[in-house]
Amino acid sequence: MKISIEKMKELRVELKENSYPIYIGSGLLQQKQILLKHIKSKQVLVVTNTTIAPLYLDKLIKSLIDFQVEVIELPDGEQYKKLEYISKIFDCLLEKKFSRNATLVALGGGVIGDMGGFAAACYQRGIPFIQIPTTVLAQVDSSVGGKTGVNHPLGKNMIGAFYQPQCVIADMDVLDTLDDRQLIAGIAEVIKYGLIRDLDFFEWLEKNMSLLLARDKQALAYVIERSCINKAEVVAEDEFETGIRAILNLGHTFGHAIETGTGYGQYLHGEAVSIGMGYAADLSKRMGWLSELDVTRILALLKLAGLPVEPPADMSVEQFLDFMSVDKKNVDGNIRLILLKSIGEATLPINVEQKQLEQTLTNYAG
Ligand code: NAD
Ligand code: GLY
Repeated sequence: MKISIEKMKELRVELKENSYPIYIGSGLLQQKQILLKHIKSKQVLVVTNTTIAPLYLDKLIKSLIDFQVEVIELPDGEQYKKLEYISKIFDCLLEKKFSRNATLVALGGGVIGDMGGFAAACYQRGIPFIQIPTTVLAQVDSSVGGKTGVNHPLGKNMIGAFYQPQCVIADMDVLDTLDDRQLIAGIAEVIKYGLIRDLDFFEWLEKNMSLLLARDKQALAYVIERSCINKAEVVAEDEFETGIRAILNLGHTFGHAIETGTGYGQYLHGEAVSIGMGYAADLSKRMGWLSELDVTRILALLKLAGLPVEPPADMSVEQFLDFMSVDKKNVDGNIRLILLKSIGEATLPINVEQKQLEQTLTNYAG
């Protein structure tokens, strides 16, 4: 089925002078006019990886025919999301003598988007960039909102910058080549929106998960749009995460500990977040906010999506506490977490008593 550009959805992230559109639709990579509208330079650097390049680079390059295009292909994987590879992007920009008005286009999943955005934020103190997200996770979450950065061996996403793109181009056609494990990992962040602020969406997902897993185009389009609306609203309220934006991190402190503790790569980000949301639900029950039934319902939806909820067998409570103590939400060394008051309503970051946290870490079984 070929959906024409007329059916493309356009949302907006409202951030005063940093506002930008999110385009969602089919065949958008071939829509030269979108790129023409948002690229104000002659020089364009496409940052992608060795998996995505053979699939989609040619299509993109054809749409960039009017520009002087250079490409850097990074190795594929979360383990390469580190400063060393940001440096390689700088090497390329400098070797090709890219000026301050050059545009960087990030073509890939969340790893490429976060790295491309961070390189753009730093090169000559900031050059324009465009997000072309190619995974569900990137289309529903990471490409929107301007969080960019890399991992450190001691902490996930600990080096980075807030830096907004010129636009986000979410071409749903590219999801056809995404494998099921990656598709499902993206659904974790989708369920997150239902849990933190959108009960209706949570209920829709309970009823329609099978359509989503069958890659029904309409269901996918709806989910990408509704997720982006949720994300854009939160980001518009709190661009720099001084308050409400932190709710987007439900389950992430546990999840980041799992990703860091298992060495980046064993668990996909979305999988680690899914397990983390299970921990957060358990702790929210211990706080007296969620009922046993709520927790069962949350775990049932995660499992229905095919997401893992069981804690990793080889991580101790001490390791969890150690990795959780390196988190951007922490204040004065205290671990702060996003929990749930109910399904559809998250708390702001709260200090949790060590004893209560230890009870969850010890007893939660998924
Ligand atoms: P990813 O970027 O590693 O992509 C997953 C895999 O799919 C990779 O192997 C990639 O090469 C491949 N791939 C990408 N697009 C494809 C396609 N269309 N067809 C076939 N294969 C394709 O992982 P991800 O899940 O997209 O992103 C995870 C990253 O996003 C993490 O580093 C996480 O920290 C970050 N993240 C950032 C934010 C943010 O706000 N900036 C939010 C959530 C997650
Ligand atoms: N993924 C969390 C955020 O963008 O704030």
